Amino acid sequence: MEATDWKNLPFGYFKTDYNIRCYYRNGKWGELEVSSSEYVSLHMAATCLHYGQEAFEGLKVFRGADGKVRIFRWEENAKRMQNSAYGIMMANVPSELFKEAVFKAVKLNEKYIPPYGEGASLYVRPLLIGSGPQVGVKPASEYMFMVFVGPVGPYFKEGFNPVNIQIVRDYDRAAPLGTGSYKVGGNYAASLRSGERAHDEGFASVLFLDAKEKKYIDEAGPANFFGIKGNTYITPNSHSILPSITNMSLREIAKDLGLTVEQRSIAVDELGSFDEVGACGTAAVISPIKKILDRETCTVYEYCKDGKAGPISTKLYNQLRGIQEGTVEDKFNWNTIIE
Ligand code: PLP
Ligand code: COI
Repeated sequence: MEATDWKNLPFGYFKTDYNIRCYYRNGKWGELEVSSSEYVSLHMAATCLHYGQEAFEGLKVFRGADGKVRIFRWEENAKRMQNSAYGIMMANVPSELFKEAVFKAVKLNEKYIPPYGEGASLYVRPLLIGSGPQVGVKPASEYMFMVFVGPVGPYFKEGFNPVNIQIVRDYDRAAPLGTGSYKVGGNYAASLRSGERAHDEGFASVLFLDAKEKKYIDEAGPANFFGIKGNTYITPNSHSILPSITNMSLREIAKDLGLTVEQRSIAVDELGSFDEVGACGTAAVISPIKKILDRETCTVYEYCKDGKAGPISTKLYNQLRGIQEGTVEDKFNWNTIIE
C-alpha cells in the first residue's frame, strides 16, 4: 500500500482489501462471505434497481490515543437499519448479524484504520438491497446485506471550521408521512438536485424546511440541525428527518455539561435568535454554521462573527471526539473495543 496522507483524506470512496456479503434466500440469512471484489452481480429485475429497495448505514471506527480500536454505538445503527428495512419492506438484519459483518469488515481491513491524531477515521458503510426480481411493484423475496469500509476525512471540506448553508423552498427531501425518517436511498436521490445547486452557488449544504408548511427547520442535507440559545441545546423533532445518532449523543453530552435540551419545532423566524447553530452527523461530526441564506426571501442569518466555532459547539465537539478516541471517559458506554 502506498503511504496514505491521512491528514488530507477527503470523505469519499477508498478501496480496501475486503468486504462482507450475506444473502437472504428462502426466508433466511446464509453464512457471511468475505469478498475482495468491489463489484456485485445482480439480477436485472432486482427491486433495488427499480423500486428503491435500498437502505444503508454509516458509522465510524477510531484508533485511540491508547492504540485501541473503538467503534461508536453500532447497536444504534443496527436498530436504525432494522427500522429502515421495516419501512420499505425488506428482510430484517438481526443485530448479531450486523455486528458480526461490521466487526469482520473492520478487522480484515485493520491497516486502513487511520492513526490517532490525524483527524481521520474508518467509515463503515453497511447496505441492504432487494436483490430478488420483481416487475410488479412488490417487495423482493431475496436480499443482500453488504459491509464495506474506508478511511475518511471530514465530510465538509471546512472540517470544524464554520460553513455556509442555504435554505431551499423549491425542493423537499421527504414528504411529511413519507420515508424521511428511514435511511433509504430514495431520500438521497431526492436531495441531489438541490444539493448540487447549493454547492454550485458556494454553499456546503442545503437546509430543508418541513414539506407541509415550509415554516419549520427539518435538517441540513446529510446532517441534523441544532441551535444553541443561552444555555439550551435545541434541535427539531420532525418526523421527516433522520433520527441522527450523533444528535442523540450530543443531547446526552449537552445534558451532562449542564445544558437544557429541547427537541421541538424550530420556526425559520427563530433562526435570528440563536447564539450558535450547527449541523451534526456521523460524517459531518459537528459542522458549525456561520451563515444561513434563505434562498427565496434573501434573508441572511449570521453566526461565528469572529470566524470561529462558538464556545458551546466547541465543547460538544471536543467531548464527542474525545469519547470516540478514548481521551474522554466513555461514561455512557457508547464504544465497543474491536480486538
Ligand atoms: N440526516 C441525514 C439525512 C443523514 O444522512 C445523516 C447521516 O447519517 C444524519 C442526519 C446524521 O445521522 P447520524 O448522526 O446517525 O450519522
Ligand atoms: C453519515 O453521516 O454517515 C451519512 O450517511 C451521511 C452521508 C454521507 C449520506
